[in-house]
Amino acid sequence: MPSTLFSLLFLFLFPFSTLSHLFSPPDNYLVNCGSAAPTTLVDYRPFAGDLAGNRSPFSPSPRAVSLRNDNPLPDSPSIYHTARVFTSPARYSFPVTDKGTHIVRLHFHPFNSSTLDLGRAQFHVLLNGHVVLSNFTRLVSGSRNPRIVEYLIWIDADSLVLVFVPNRDSKLAFVNAIEVISAPKDLVPDTAQYLSPSNVEKFEGFNKQVLEVVYRVTVGGVKVTPFNDSLWRTWIPDDRFLKTSVGSEKLYFGGRIKYHVGGASREVGPDNVYNSARLIKSKNDSVPSVNMTWVFPVVGGYKYLVRLHFCDIASISLGLLYFNVYVNGYLAYEDLDLSYITKSLASPFYADFVVDGGDVDSIGALSVDVGPSQRSIPHAIDGILNAVEVMKLNNSFNSLDGDVCADFVMKSWSTGNNTSMLFTLLAAVCIVLSLSIVIRRKLLVSRESVSWSRLPVNSSDDSVVKN
Ligand SMILES: *[C@@H]1O[C@H](CO)[C@@H](O)[C@H](O)[C@H]1NC(C)=O
Ligand SMILES: *[C@@H]1O[C@H](CO)[C@@H](O)[C@H](O)[C@H]1NC(C)=O
Ligand SMILES: *[C@@H]1O[C@H](CO)[C@@H](O)[C@H](O)[C@H]1NC(C)=O
Ligand SMILES: *[C@@H]1O[C@H](CO)[C@@H](O)[C@H](O)[C@H]1NC(C)=O
Ligand SMILES: *[C@@H]1O[C@H](CO)[C@@H](O)[C@H](O)[C@H]1NC(C)=O
Ligand SMILES: *[C@@H]1O[C@H](CO)[C@@H](O)[C@H](O)[C@H]1NC(C)=O
Repeated sequence: MPSTLFSLLFLFLFPFSTLSHLFSPPDNYLVNCGSAAPTTLVDYRPFAGDLAGNRSPFSPSPRAVSLRNDNPLPDSPSIYHTARVFTSPARYSFPVTDKGTHIVRLHFHPFNSSTLDLGRAQFHVLLNGHVVLSNFTRLVSGSRNPRIVEYLIWIDADSLVLVFVPNRDSKLAFVNAIEVISAPKDLVPDTAQYLSPSNVEKFEGFNKQVLEVVYRVTVGGVKVTPFNDSLWRTWIPDDRFLKTSVGSEKLYFGGRIKYHVGGASREVGPDNVYNSARLIKSKNDSVPSVNMTWVFPVVGGYKYLVRLHFCDIASISLGLLYFNVYVNGYLAYEDLDLSYITKSLASPFYADFVVDGGDVDSIGALSVDVGPSQRSIPHAIDGILNAVEVMKLNNSFNSLDGDVCADFVMKSWSTGNNTSMLFTLLAAVCIVLSLSIVIRRKLLVSRESVSWSRLPVNSSDDSVVKN
């Protein structure tokens, strides 16, 4: 087949490091919120400003302003130097051309301007009718690291809509940057295995759940940044989740990772993730009797997806590695034989398990154990793990953050703002207006400042009177 020949040729001609960014998503919106100007990150991705004219996904809301950090940390990426600030519910709408799973990332890095401390913001975020954040407040101005949340959501509709709803006490919401990206078709499967106390069941319709990435961990390696990931993800090292390192060792593999059809693709996990691992090794005539155990704290009341990534980068030949895998103490795989599945060494494979995260309102923990099985062989590798992802599934309220539904969130805004709040609101509007004037003066491009000038008009005849 010519296309196969072509891809072979392609693989041959290009060093594999350049292949890591070959995935080109049909929908790919990268928004630098609160800015008129585009900016480019170290991973070379361009983020467009959300002030730009007609094609902006942002529908200007009367009380939304843009805010600039006058004293950004010297090494902080430029998307965190501005924020879009909301004092009433506001929405971004992204046209969807490619139905299916989408990746949504929201970036929050609060800062203190002369007039507003974004650290005091408290708000809810809705994603196509799902509550993804409620009373979101775990943010501190001036902290070094931004807070990035990531969701995977199946989109059947023509658009993906994000709604920011300030909470009635703080009346303040913000966002620094938004990413909306079509996911590769193999990223979220339609079925997964559900490990329950009694048995293993099939979880149908898995790809229709909304997922929140809770942990994305590369085992035995160093942090992988968006620059080195095929889907611009971040993978953190596993050390803080590993219960004890006794009996296990880290391994780095300098060879080539052999992706194959039916296994993990490079979009499921990049080379930089599969080329490191932690393993159990038998050095003499006996197979060690130990497990490698990782523990992931989670919020109770939800189901979680545990995705385990394996790639035998350690064995000296096929057919020598057999081990057991436990998730939450349940035997997920007995005598897992990667050679049989992948037919080659250094070839990645992943497995998805859904488990319960404990009682509502409790702090639960998910555990992953990897250890030798009955078939493990002395003088060989007797257990390996390359990466773990933990994702939270929406609950029956269609929420990822509490037992609240989207209607309740919207009502909490409208009922919370009665006439007794008018003066507070007027004060807020005044701040907003004066800010907008300051910001308007700073705008360089005239086209954007035209669309912005509608703001004072809207505020006086719409928002204030209605409330
Ligand atoms: C932000 O500024 C306010 C007033 O200037 C101050 O009270 C507050 O502590 C500042 N917050 C941070 C986190 O710097
Ligand atoms: C990308 O990965 C290489 C090693 O594979 C590493 O040397 C480099 O620092 C990484 N770059 C970034 C920006 O993380
Ligand atoms: C094999 O080595 C382990 C330590 O690595 C030791 O505890 C064990 O007794 C040894 N077994 C034999 C049969 O020598
Ligand atoms: C490994 O973990 C599993 C599940 O928690 C447990 O049943 C098994 O006994 C452990 N094996 C060892 C050697 O600790
Ligand atoms: C997640 O939400 C969907 C509706 O969008 C619902 O059908 C599904 O049951 C929810 N998942 C869970 C685990 O409750
Ligand atoms: C937010 O918190 C307030 C007070 O703690 C509570 O009354 C309200 O119901 C919460 N709203 C949501 C959507 O969780």
